[in-house]
Amino acid sequence: MSNWLILGAAGGIASALGRELAARGHALILADQKSMQERLEWNAADLKTRYRATVHTLQFDALDFDKHDELLNKAEELAGPLEGVLLTTGVMWDQEELQNDPDRARLHHDINYTSAMSLLGLVANRFEQRGGGQIVAIGSPAGDRGRQSNYLYGADKAALHVFMQGLRQRLAPAKVNVLTIKPGPTRTPMTEGMEKLPLPSMPERVAADIARAIDKRCDVVYVPWFWQWIMHVIRHIPEVIFKRLKM
Ligand SMILES: NC(=O)c1ccc[n+]([C@@H]2O[C@H](COP(=O)([O-])OP(=O)(O)OC[C@H]3O[C@@H](n4cnc5c(N)ncnc54)[C@H](OP(=O)(O)O)[C@@H]3O)[C@@H](O)[C@H]2O)c1
Repeated sequence: MSNWLILGAAGGIASALGRELAARGHALILADQKSMQERLEWNAADLKTRYRATVHTLQFDALDFDKHDELLNKAEELAGPLEGVLLTTGVMWDQEELQNDPDRARLHHDINYTSAMSLLGLVANRFEQRGGGQIVAIGSPAGDRGRQSNYLYGADKAALHVFMQGLRQRLAPAKVNVLTIKPGPTRTPMTEGMEKLPLPSMPERVAADIARAIDKRCDVVYVPWFWQWIMHVIRHIPEVIFKRLKM
């Protein structure tokens, strides 16, 4: 049994992923912000009943940068040394609102990228010293090419992708695996009310694929797999054509 910290653990994909990891016998520390504590406690009780899992809960706000190190200390005090950290926190606010409000766009970037850089950077230093562990973060195909309808969210995820890439290369000699997951549109609270999602997946399917990628210590994984090929095509559309498309 190994200890996994899930950040953003009350979210749609993370809740399903908690069940996958608990079913594999891992002990879990579930962390999410104050407003999600009720859901977090419900998830913890469910995992204890269904899988007899060891589960702890913690309150954390990704924007409390000064408390990131303290959060990791608390998690290790509760459960012992961590084997893995899984970052699933994220927001996808309305693109037009963000375009018209740079302060809000900066906050969006801080939740989606700056907090990830801070937290996972601290985790990386710990795991590098120990010579092992796994760091997993959820990016998005939206980070593969900027589109007018969501380039601010996409830019956050592109930054996360490059950060994870660099971390992966740096930590390879220390035997720390760094995994980036890029899920296609998934039906979770984040996409609630978006009726026209292209090729949507359910969080359980996405979580099962992520858990398999963790087991295999993969590097970058699109879920479902076909998003890799869809994005391959989209990335290669010449700019002169791309800028005339409505996407
Ligand atoms: N759903 C999709 O189609 C999709 C596709 C590609 C990638 N992703 C990525 O997958 C990850 C999980 O998304 P999801 O679909 O499962 O969405 P979700 O259900 O909204 O989960 C995101 C979680 O992050 C939490 N969070 C937001 N701001 C936070 C903060 N400042 N501090 C701590 N926690 C915070 C949310 O809490 P609140 O609910 O209180 O905000 C929520 O529990 C995200 O990184 C998302 O960008 C999702």
